[in-house]
Amino acid sequence: MVVSPSSAIADLPDLLIRQARICHPDDRLAVGDVLVQGGVITAVESHIDRDRLGDGGREIDGTGLTLLPGAIDPQVHFREPGLEYKEDLQTASYACAQGGITSFLEMPNTKPLTVTQGDMTAKLALAASKCVVNYGFFIGATSECLPDLLTTTPTCGIKIFMGSMKGPLLVDEEPVLDRLFAMGQTPDSGPGRLIAVHAENQERIQERRKEFAGISDPAIHSVIQDNQAALEATQLALKLSKKYHRRLHILHMSTAEEAELMRRDKPAWVTCEVTPQHLLLNTDAYAKIGTLAQMNPPLRSPHDNEVLWQALLDGVIDFIATDHAPHTLEEKAKPYPESPSGMPGVETSLPLMLTQAIAGRCTVQQVVRWMSANVAKFFGIPRKGAIAPGFDGDLVLVDLDTYRPVSRDRLLSKCGWSPFEGWELTGWPVVTIVGGQVVYENGRVNGQVRGRPLSFEP
Ligand code: DOR
Repeated sequence: MVVSPSSAIADLPDLLIRQARICHPDDRLAVGDVLVQGGVITAVESHIDRDRLGDGGREIDGTGLTLLPGAIDPQVHFREPGLEYKEDLQTASYACAQGGITSFLEMPNTKPLTVTQGDMTAKLALAASKCVVNYGFFIGATSECLPDLLTTTPTCGIKIFMGSMKGPLLVDEEPVLDRLFAMGQTPDSGPGRLIAVHAENQERIQERRKEFAGISDPAIHSVIQDNQAALEATQLALKLSKKYHRRLHILHMSTAEEAELMRRDKPAWVTCEVTPQHLLLNTDAYAKIGTLAQMNPPLRSPHDNEVLWQALLDGVIDFIATDHAPHTLEEKAKPYPESPSGMPGVETSLPLMLTQAIAGRCTVQQVVRWMSANVAKFFGIPRKGAIAPGFDGDLVLVDLDTYRPVSRDRLLSKCGWSPFEGWELTGWPVVTIVGGQVVYENGRVNGQVRGRPLSFEP
């Protein structure tokens, strides 16, 4: 099959990936060859002749490895502009390349905040100059309900922090939230621009902060910002989404109660995500890693882990995000509650989930659906999330036979730590390819590669 899609780049050398076990869109795992030309997949066949590879083209031996569509991480905090001492777009995108993440969607809590078209344009320019993987950005809602929320392009959607945020990005009053959900919606309009919510009830958190003041054991974090705080905010977002038929996405769903609510009552225009840490870590982690386990929404109980897993397996939860939110070790060493919330994730998410697949908890194909295909589908990202002719050449070759521990020495994120340090994982990327260019190979990032801005279809 010959394909010449509009996104092809004429002068990129061809790539031919040979004899990898390919994860096909119909869920088959079968050994074959993949040809990428001009950055776009042009053939997926059991054997592709070498003479179809253009001049200067390169063959990659995939024997013994598994080829997946590159992962798309739909929730990250990459700290640039303004907080580069924690992370920047270059280090973060290198970490993505090492983790098999070929595209990311980044959050607006940078300095300046991303709340206008001007902020978005500036962030896109920074990304174009620094990112070795593809990028998209959320626009942040403030109580000013700026018209830019609906007009800024390109954007994957509007982010609302209903709780766990300071400053203008905190929008915790129902009348303001109501206005935001109503913006641009008419009785017969479609679901409109996506609103993604960080759902925690700020009022409840503030009351409980006073109630539990003076306790410096970080485990109190999960008690203060409890399941009820998350459930109440998710219920409110769901109510407003139904009132205005507004496209809603629940970020990092963390509780059994929210998962059960979604199982009972999830309109077609609502999606939700879970993080690997809310599936695999729980409140026991505080005793082992202290404030490195502190994040928002907090880690929950083993029961919450189980219910979230089941909701993911049953399709109630649609996909996986890392909420990569790096802070320095010095910041994390502060006593609770001065210690900041957040943990890195882009380098470990794919191996973590593939390790679960090899252990029999899910399948490799499900991991691909949760970390690539469904993200592309629900954010309307064209030509991503599958290995098929016409799709972009965003690919990752992983090794599902070797186990290696998560180790600080190998991490590329500027923060230099992981809550999963010491975990023995398989499924580590061997080669990561972005738009037909090898961006990561055997432990090295090619810093010359540049990702491209993502586009989003309604
Ligand atoms: O723990 C968190 N930290 N959760 C968030 O949603 C924000 C993040 C950050 O930016 O540090």
